[in-house]
Amino acid sequence: MIQIAVMGYGTVGSGVVEVIEKNKEMVNKKSAQELNVKYILDLREFPGDPYEDKVIHDVNRIMEDDEVTVVCETMGGLKPAYEFTKMALTRGKSVCTSNKELVAAYGPELLELAREHSCNYLFEASVGGGIPIIRPLNYSLTAEKIEAVTGILNGTTNYILSKMETEGADFDSVLRKAQEKGYAERNPEADVEGYDACRKIAILSSLMLGKHVDYRKIYTEGITKITGDDFVYAKAMGKTIKLLALSKETPQGAIAMVSPFLIDLTNPLHMVNGVFNAVCVRGNMLGDSMYYGRGAGKLPTASAVVSDVVDCARHQGKTVMCFWDREEAVLADPGQVERAFFVRAKADGREQVSRAFPGGSFVEAGRTRDCGYLTPVMKEKDFAERYAALGDAALGRIRVEG
Ligand code: HSE
Repeated sequence: MIQIAVMGYGTVGSGVVEVIEKNKEMVNKKSAQELNVKYILDLREFPGDPYEDKVIHDVNRIMEDDEVTVVCETMGGLKPAYEFTKMALTRGKSVCTSNKELVAAYGPELLELAREHSCNYLFEASVGGGIPIIRPLNYSLTAEKIEAVTGILNGTTNYILSKMETEGADFDSVLRKAQEKGYAERNPEADVEGYDACRKIAILSSLMLGKHVDYRKIYTEGITKITGDDFVYAKAMGKTIKLLALSKETPQGAIAMVSPFLIDLTNPLHMVNGVFNAVCVRGNMLGDSMYYGRGAGKLPTASAVVSDVVDCARHQGKTVMCFWDREEAVLADPGQVERAFFVRAKADGREQVSRAFPGGSFVEAGRTRDCGYLTPVMKEKDFAERYAALGDAALGRIRVEG
């Protein structure tokens, strides 16, 4: 029997207990033994909860119990999750987590600790919620040199952009409605500014490169400057706008970034709408593959945590290889990357815009208030300088993917 402790009985933690209970027969069969939740660690009491007798408040009860061999860390945040995770791993207890902040910040150190103590640190639920993406990168695509990972990794922002597109509404009003319905957090900063997607692409980039990608060095831009007007132009161009998190090898070196992009309707990511997430992975032998599903939510995320628990049950006393070294990956200067840009400017700024970016073309969307212009492919740095020189005439700019 595998005795499990769940640390953090919030949305995901309670989902973990529910998945293990609901799918008991199946997960036990797949683990080749019985899984049992022995402890649930939380600061709160849960009177009336069917598992209230398992709730404890002292982490040492878990750490000192040799029967517990797998710990699910569903607390989120760095403190005290970092300390608790280290405590468990140094005692040879495997840890399965949904905590992207912790994985992005301390992944290589915790993986090394797991190796030293012949246990596992698994984090399928940390990126893309219930979508299997860590395991494909780590196990299934081992014959590939991964050339690019491009994803819609944040459900909140994808929901907002989808609504802006279909309802022609502005960012603020869609965000307000999303908050009222509980789709967006009261403090939406981590989602709308791209910080959440940044942690997730840092994890995927590290797995792609086998070296540590420091999330603090990833260029990150959120969706707060995207307007309903931008979607009018996007439609006129046969494109849509998505917050992409991407990591790819370029002639200038590896780059990683989070930013809104205009993408063609032929790009498979264009049909990823609402709270759904998707990740496209390009391997040098396989070509493109895509992973799609629910990137958040209680049961989808818990399902990914439990899949890691099953993996631990199958690999007791053995560490599953994960190629993510402590050595830091050197990312190329994003300023040197070349791409086209869409510029929206005041109507009387037409001449200024075409002079600033010769060789581009205006986007005709039947508007008189403003104008839209597609630049030729150029270096980010050159674009930024010329765009800044437009001064008050400029109303916004969006990167163009592909
Ligand atoms: N806030 C995240 C999202 C939850 O909107 O995708 C999952 O990490």
